[in-house]
Amino acid sequence: MSLKFLFLLTLISLSANYGYCYKILGVFTFPGGSHNILTSKFMKGLLRAGHDVTMVATLPMNDVPEGGKYNEILVDGIIEYFEKFKGSRNMFDLTRQNFLKRRIFMLELFNNFNAITFNDTKVQKLIHSGEKFDAVVLEQFNNDGLKVFAHIFDCPLIIVSSMGPNSWVNNLVGNPSPASYVGHLAIGDFSKDLSIYNRAKNLIVYIGDYLLTTLYILPKQDTVMRQFFPDAPPLQDLYTNVSLILLNSHTSLYPALPVVPNMVEVGGYFIDPPKELPKDLKDILDNSPEGVIYFSLGSNLKSKDLPLEQREFILRVLGKLKEKVLWKFEEDLPDRPKNVLIRKWLPQQDVLAHPNIKLFITHGGLLSTTETTYHGVPILAIPVFGDQKSNADRVVIAGYGLKLEYGSSDFTEENFEKSLNELLRNPKYRNNAKNKQKIYHDRPEKPMKTAVYWVEYVIRHKGAPHLRVAGVNLPWYKYYMVDVLVVILLTLLVVCKTGKCVVQKLFRKLKRTVSNEKKTN
Ligand SMILES: *[C@@H]1O[C@H](CO)[C@@H](O)[C@H](O)[C@H]1NC(C)=O
Ligand SMILES: *[C@@H]1O[C@H](CO)[C@@H](O)[C@H](O)[C@H]1NC(C)=O
Repeated sequence: MSLKFLFLLTLISLSANYGYCYKILGVFTFPGGSHNILTSKFMKGLLRAGHDVTMVATLPMNDVPEGGKYNEILVDGIIEYFEKFKGSRNMFDLTRQNFLKRRIFMLELFNNFNAITFNDTKVQKLIHSGEKFDAVVLEQFNNDGLKVFAHIFDCPLIIVSSMGPNSWVNNLVGNPSPASYVGHLAIGDFSKDLSIYNRAKNLIVYIGDYLLTTLYILPKQDTVMRQFFPDAPPLQDLYTNVSLILLNSHTSLYPALPVVPNMVEVGGYFIDPPKELPKDLKDILDNSPEGVIYFSLGSNLKSKDLPLEQREFILRVLGKLKEKVLWKFEEDLPDRPKNVLIRKWLPQQDVLAHPNIKLFITHGGLLSTTETTYHGVPILAIPVFGDQKSNADRVVIAGYGLKLEYGSSDFTEENFEKSLNELLRNPKYRNNAKNKQKIYHDRPEKPMKTAVYWVEYVIRHKGAPHLRVAGVNLPWYKYYMVDVLVVILLTLLVVCKTGKCVVQKLFRKLKRTVSNEKKTN
């Protein structure tokens, strides 16, 4: 092969990778740690693929990668507002709120995020700059008012969801989610027990959430959006004008669920291959042949906020184990047992990748459960709020972990000890985790590559309307054929009524004939 030919080949493959450079606007205003990781990793993937990215955000992107041009617009005031909002609350208290209350509480919070964003002078400047974008990317997270950006810039709307197919995103694209087996977010996966009770409960939650969303949440979001954009179309229309939903899920992470053609699963796209550990951690892990338990409650919840009583029993139980424990703990912990080591921060990915890690004690956040699947580590989940409980349920059903719900009567010293011993001594959990790991990695290409492909696809095909199912714009009574059923029932009723009359008449006639015959005999 000549050098010239090789050069040509390289050129062709390069231009195939960087076919077109699109301009993409991402609007991510929630300052929460894990959501920020998910969205900024996604935008980094687009930058690496050579696209120009503008990001309206609350936190700056660190380590901006080589690739397209990057422009950042930081909205002022959201973090301050969020801190003030959180200020008096211990996030562990959220567990006591029911789903309905939490939705309304989130609405207030996020609607104010939206208002601050719309009112920001830099954002207003962008809106009036005449700048053009090929697509707008949002995370679906109580922020429907932000969908107005796709309308302002007149381009396709792409949604990233931190979860799998769920009731927040299904309605945007008309994804089928029969209440008979697809658990609502508030219920979680119940596919192992499809009893009439569970199905009825699920249906009632679906109906309640649907009513809450359409009658209360969307109108409230619309009101705030309209303060700033009075001429925008109704939010209800913008809500379903979605070209593509990228789901942070995969069949290794979720039960098998339906997805329409414009929903694409790219679960784990945010995970980078593991890196070398810092020296001190590497030494600890390398020199612990008896195994190490990694313990972290994520970035939103702080282990230091655990009530004292629970903190104490956790330490008592951990102290009895022969394994070492590496705990992400945000302050000093003076009376801890010798085998418990604490760090304010840990490179979770790289820790989980170490072969001596035997178990992960986690709050069950989606990033954490995804990363453990990537590395094939069993889990003890202590879910507190949000999707954590349903993530934990999935892990339990898949057989590679156990769950002790925070705030429930299950979360006791005795159960904590029993669960740890079961997970550490019964090989079943580790084997199942390794099996899930195999399924996780068995895909035609890396999930970030799939995500980039579909973003480009949707832009190339002007929003790809051919991927949309017709059901997306049907009102519920047409979608569920209620109108047809009513017509059929009414018809049957009429037919039966007249039929009954005919039969009655015939019967009477027959009776008369028979009695007449009897008389004549
Ligand atoms: C928008 O910001 C200005 C200050 O820049 C403030 O006076 C005004 O009240 C804000 N409007 C809303 C609706 O938040
Ligand atoms: C819906 O999205 C398409 C692009 O996919 C856009 O052209 C159209 O204007 C949008 N409709 C509304 C009401 O914003």
